[in-house]
Amino acid sequence: MIEFVSFRNLVPEITETGYLTHAIVSYPAKFIPQVVRYALNTYTKENDWVIDPFAGSGTVGVEAYLCKRNAFLLDLNLLLNHLMPMKVFQSNDLLRKEHLHILLEEMQTENKHHFMPAWSNIEYWYAPEILKLLSQYWGYIYNIEDNIYTGIIKTALLKVSKRFSYTEHRTPKLARSKRKLAAIDELLQENWVEQLLQVVYDHSLSTLKKLNDFLTLTQSHENRVEYYGGVDSSNFTVQRKFDALITSPPYLQAQEYIRSTKMDLYWLGHNDDEIKQLSRLEIPYRKADRVTHTPTLDVVRSKLTRKDLCHRLESYFCHTLNALENSMNQLKPNGVASIFVGNPRIDGIEVELWKIISEYFTERGFTFKKVYEDRIKTRQLFGTRKNKNPEGMKSEFLLILKKE
Ligand SMILES: C[S@@+](CC[C@H](N)C(=O)[O-])C[C@H]1O[C@@H](n2cnc3c(N)ncnc32)[C@H](O)[C@@H]1O
Repeated sequence: MIEFVSFRNLVPEITETGYLTHAIVSYPAKFIPQVVRYALNTYTKENDWVIDPFAGSGTVGVEAYLCKRNAFLLDLNLLLNHLMPMKVFQSNDLLRKEHLHILLEEMQTENKHHFMPAWSNIEYWYAPEILKLLSQYWGYIYNIEDNIYTGIIKTALLKVSKRFSYTEHRTPKLARSKRKLAAIDELLQENWVEQLLQVVYDHSLSTLKKLNDFLTLTQSHENRVEYYGGVDSSNFTVQRKFDALITSPPYLQAQEYIRSTKMDLYWLGHNDDEIKQLSRLEIPYRKADRVTHTPTLDVVRSKLTRKDLCHRLESYFCHTLNALENSMNQLKPNGVASIFVGNPRIDGIEVELWKIISEYFTERGFTFKKVYEDRIKTRQLFGTRKNKNPEGMKSEFLLILKKE
């Protein structure tokens, strides 16, 4: 019943998870593109429409476009709306380095406009002189015409806004640490402006190159990628029909996507209220409005004693299954759903997610086709950090269900 695979070996044409535009901005718990490519190659054909209700940083959008499929992406995180125009950039002309250089030069001398994020405790996260400089650079970018070049510079400014802050930039969650405070203090004794600019230049130029490589490869592609960030998929009805679903739902615990990307969202112009509102809707940190039953889930529930974890379990399944169901109801007959999940533990109890999802949907008009198990445990969680064993996961699974 289980087919053991290595998606990296099954898709040897992808040699690097961050190739082309996949990694221009960090995002926690991204898909490895090989899984998406495999599902696209195996279960879809050219010009099909694919939906991803938990699109995150848009891996399905990028892969779909590269494979001449259309994609419809939803995610609670507003970052998606900023990322997608860059990740699937379409244009007849290649981007020019010289133009980027002109803007980067101007950014350093132009001092008329400043931008301060609408973040009540922004000072907590920055040394005053660094905040002042960042605010000048962002102010410049927000006061010139918005286009792909400003988009490229923004991705570089996001990088330095995190790296030169008091948060530990190598871990996803916002966390001020003694180590980082000391590192910033030390940096301020050095040529920190030059160092900051070096990162901005390097990142901008490398993003421009990635976009040009993407453009060159996709000149003949005429597909569409639609994206809706800021959407609660568990409460959203999609009107159109799809040929396939490819998605990876949020983790059962220990992942707060909004909190992890909060600093980016503030610099990109979102405010306290918007961000609080989104955090409240995040799975599994909100109340369940129904209790879901499947044989495997009932066994887990009967073993779980801690009240807070019981609530989390209910919340997770209620909203994750709602979101999947909203999208899967829109699949055409014979449409295939490919759902990528781990095998998390809650209070030491193993939760066989793929089995629970499969049991739920086989009662609701789907047939179980197969499940792949990948024992390579290097799903990239964030930046360069590889989480070998998130939540005690031993493997990851790709569940395949077919609409009857
Ligand atoms: C495992 S991540 C998906 C990562 C994505 N596959 C990628 O490659 O970037 C799960 C996503 O679920 C999203 N999410 C959490 N609660 C949600 C909700 N209520 N509605 C829509 N998306 C939600 C998170 O923002 C996160 O991006």
